[in-house]
Amino acid sequence: MSWRAAPPPADDEEAIRENLESWDALAHLHAQGSGAEFYRIEQWLAGESKLAPWEIEEMGSVEGKTLLHMQCHIGTDTLSWAREGAQVTGLDFSSNAISEAQRFANILGIDDSRFIVSRVSDAIEVLEGERFDILYTGRGALCWLPDLDEWARVCATLTKQGGVLYLEESTPMLNALDVEEESDGSRLVLKYDLFNEGPVSETGEGSYASEEADIERTTHCWEFRYGTIMNALIENGFRIDLLNERDELFFDPWPELFEPSQPNYWRLKKGHVAFPLSFTLKASRL
Ligand SMILES: C[S@@+](CC[C@H](N)C(=O)[O-])C[C@H]1O[C@@H](n2cnc3c(N)ncnc32)[C@H](O)[C@@H]1O
Repeated sequence: MSWRAAPPPADDEEAIRENLESWDALAHLHAQGSGAEFYRIEQWLAGESKLAPWEIEEMGSVEGKTLLHMQCHIGTDTLSWAREGAQVTGLDFSSNAISEAQRFANILGIDDSRFIVSRVSDAIEVLEGERFDILYTGRGALCWLPDLDEWARVCATLTKQGGVLYLEESTPMLNALDVEEESDGSRLVLKYDLFNEGPVSETGEGSYASEEADIERTTHCWEFRYGTIMNALIENGFRIDLLNERDELFFDPWPELFEPSQPNYWRLKKGHVAFPLSFTLKASRL
């Protein structure tokens, strides 16, 4: 994948519109095209979970609980929680992603699942005051949001008192890096400023799930730090219960440096100095 700097958007609205175009272009590719291998659609339809073992363990039993998955994409994670016993609602601003999620729910016969098209910022209104036992999100979700304080307020409003928010994300440290080719091999270098206020705007081809996909798209992503996530959650009525970092990641950012560690996860090849690649966070709604 070759990505280059793109002109900055006029405002957040333009950034979100262009991001939506990009995600709409990826949904079918990930569910039914060349990205389906990365998403392990065949194995998943046959019964494999998309959830990491630590997610199931840290979340605790979801049996009979209502779960809202914000930024659910094509519903593979959402429906994996349904298989664990949760009554799931998936929400995403991409109507193409939501129609793929609904198609999967029909194939699997998970009739009490529900998928809704909405921006995160409109979710309170669209869900008309409904509140959930569990708010699940992440794995490449937070970087698409310009305002994590607004996100935390939305999450707090949608989570019942005593309910939990749970997410997995790539670490800020990983998000600051890019790879450079040197004569003696590939090297990770600091490229993205974690204190940057506006989005990082880039144009490129393909997707994290399919390098060869013939799709050119422009994306606008915002950096986050542990402080911006945790302070937003604390200020909006959550107590942080755990934060665990891991040397495994839910996508393969640089195939020359990473190797599979288990289904749906990758880690740095032997010989590289390990550092935290992903983290999970669990918070209680006070
Ligand atoms: C990488 S996916 C994360 C979901 C899941 N981990 C997966 O890979 O299937 C990011 C999702 O965020 C959605 N998204 C991005 N910005 C959004 C916004 N402002 N409101 C709602 N959904 C948004 C995209 O449509 C996409 O489906």
